[in-house]
Amino acid sequence: MIITVDGPAAAGKGTLSQRLAEKYCLAYFDTGMVYRAVGLMLLSEDKDLQDVAAAEKAAAALTFAKMVELSRHKDFRSAKGGQAASIVSSYSGVRALLLDMQRNFAKNPMFADGTPAKGVIYDGRDTGTVVCPNAEIKFFITASPEVRAKRRYDEFVAKGMAASYEEVLKDVKARDERDATRKDAPMKPAEDAVIVDTSDMGIEEVFAKTVAIIEKKIK
Ligand code: DC
Repeated sequence: MIITVDGPAAAGKGTLSQRLAEKYCLAYFDTGMVYRAVGLMLLSEDKDLQDVAAAEKAAAALTFAKMVELSRHKDFRSAKGGQAASIVSSYSGVRALLLDMQRNFAKNPMFADGTPAKGVIYDGRDTGTVVCPNAEIKFFITASPEVRAKRRYDEFVAKGMAASYEEVLKDVKARDERDATRKDAPMKPAEDAVIVDTSDMGIEEVFAKTVAIIEKKIK
């Protein structure tokens, strides 16, 4: 079974996807990681993020193992890492180079410890439209920019990372703009996706709603 969970930054896709993966014994692929890894490769080599050729070179050199290794870096989940990911993800060549790695995961899905899984939950922006258009179940999870900024700000604070709500809101809006207007695979719900606006919902409510949809589909 393949389930895709797409939507804008900080909409709660990660938490929801991991809960669903656990419930249905599916592997989990956070596809933002491929772009975060490429962004971090440029940052750590002191390359200009606007250098498209350097970004393509990094994308071509990226392997799944390298991505997992980079995910332990302190900047991988930081605001700086997110901005770098957002910039490199707007390059068509980078997206094309990273597509096979994302698609291949569904051919041989694995849990984090390497044991095989019977399916995958993909989390990203274009997993239901581009990466896995044939997925059985597709969700598009969204919320207002203010609610998403507050959630991301709270996450940073909980992790002890320096953050300002205004800065996070500015970043969320800038990322929405870049994600929605890039010419290649702009973020949009798949035609067959179920759209869930979580602005006024807690995680338990979102989880229950998506589980009900999955149960109906698999019966
Ligand atoms: O979900 P995230 O914040 O980790 O994603 C980081 C960036 O990667 C985000 O700004 C947009 C990009 N991204 C993408 O373009 N396509 C995906 N499937 C996942 C993420």
